[in-house]
Amino acid sequence: MTLSELTLDREGLAAAIACEDAAFEAALREEAYSVKVATVGPEVYLRGLIEISNICVKDCLYCGIRRDIRCQRYELSEEEVLATARIAAHRRFGSVVIQGGERTDAAFIRKITRLLKEIKSIDTEDDPPLGITLSLGEQSREVYEEWFDAGAHRYLLRIESSNPDLYRKIHPADHSYDRRLQALYDLKEIGYQAGTGAMIGMPFQTAEDMADDLLFYKEFDAPMVGMGPYNPHPETPLTLSGAPYPSAERRFALGLKMIALLRLLMPDINIAAATALEVLDPRGREKGILAGANVIMPNITPEEQMVKYNLYDRKTLLRDCPSSVDPSKRDTHICRNCVFPFCSLGDGLSGRKIVIGYGRWGDSKHFRRK
Ligand code: 5AD
Repeated sequence: MTLSELTLDREGLAAAIACEDAAFEAALREEAYSVKVATVGPEVYLRGLIEISNICVKDCLYCGIRRDIRCQRYELSEEEVLATARIAAHRRFGSVVIQGGERTDAAFIRKITRLLKEIKSIDTEDDPPLGITLSLGEQSREVYEEWFDAGAHRYLLRIESSNPDLYRKIHPADHSYDRRLQALYDLKEIGYQAGTGAMIGMPFQTAEDMADDLLFYKEFDAPMVGMGPYNPHPETPLTLSGAPYPSAERRFALGLKMIALLRLLMPDINIAAATALEVLDPRGREKGILAGANVIMPNITPEEQMVKYNLYDRKTLLRDCPSSVDPSKRDTHICRNCVFPFCSLGDGLSGRKIVIGYGRWGDSKHFRRK
């Protein structure tokens, strides 16, 4: 297949996803990168990712922090979350993402509400107050409203798979696709920038399913999307079932290809270079940027807890930890081990200029245009 044969309908997208020709894949990434620069500009926006807790009431069959898995649980204190958010402010990330296992108890909900107000009042010197994205699963509409009023303005809730049959296969019987969809529409109606996404390269997933995921983002009119390769966790039911899935190399190539195709389909949205890419390739997120993504979420969870947020094996991420960052550096460099070489060098893998949008929210142009 060649780039000129590509069409952005279901059939064309599925053919592009199924095509394993390296030259085609490279040309597609190149095209998506150009579209990105022409549409949303060369800037990459940062969101400091704070994983506040791995306690979860859900039991998703692919997830390493599912309710029924035996693992060490943790919950950051309010002071720890605030201290971490202050690091994000100091490093001029512009925004933070508060992510954690799903919980719906009142103590948890109130804690988030308090934290949102406190994070909003962190001193950011000459920058705007930190932007806040939440990623805390399915909640009632009232809770989403409470958090919106307290200062959250973006929410990430992946659909995981837009195919209800596949959704059912990877979740226990009491998890509902319709409920998930309703939550997404609630978020949008309340006024959040509601981001979604799906895993790429899962067992049972076809090229058509992945094409449908892209068309789902378009249909939902998502201002932001975070999707990433499936990475098997050794102790989950999905892995233990023995169901086959693509090789690590293929999942990585698919992850980049999905970013590139989505950039062509929705040129002005925010697309994250997902953490799951970094696990498959030490420069995975950077390669995601070069395939058309424009958001990176450096993981700034304190190291001791980050290792417990074990969705899958994520050792490479420790490079993002505050403990490996040179505190004297403010916005010119992210960490000693150079997770993002382009930050200090001004150019990335291909020698292209990549500009970090320091100290800015970096809202989706798509959302602002509406
Ligand atoms: N591989 C890749 N992504 C995963 N997630 C959970 N488990 C895995 C896995 N094994 C993602 C899901 C979820 C987010 C918390 O992490 O998409 O939305």
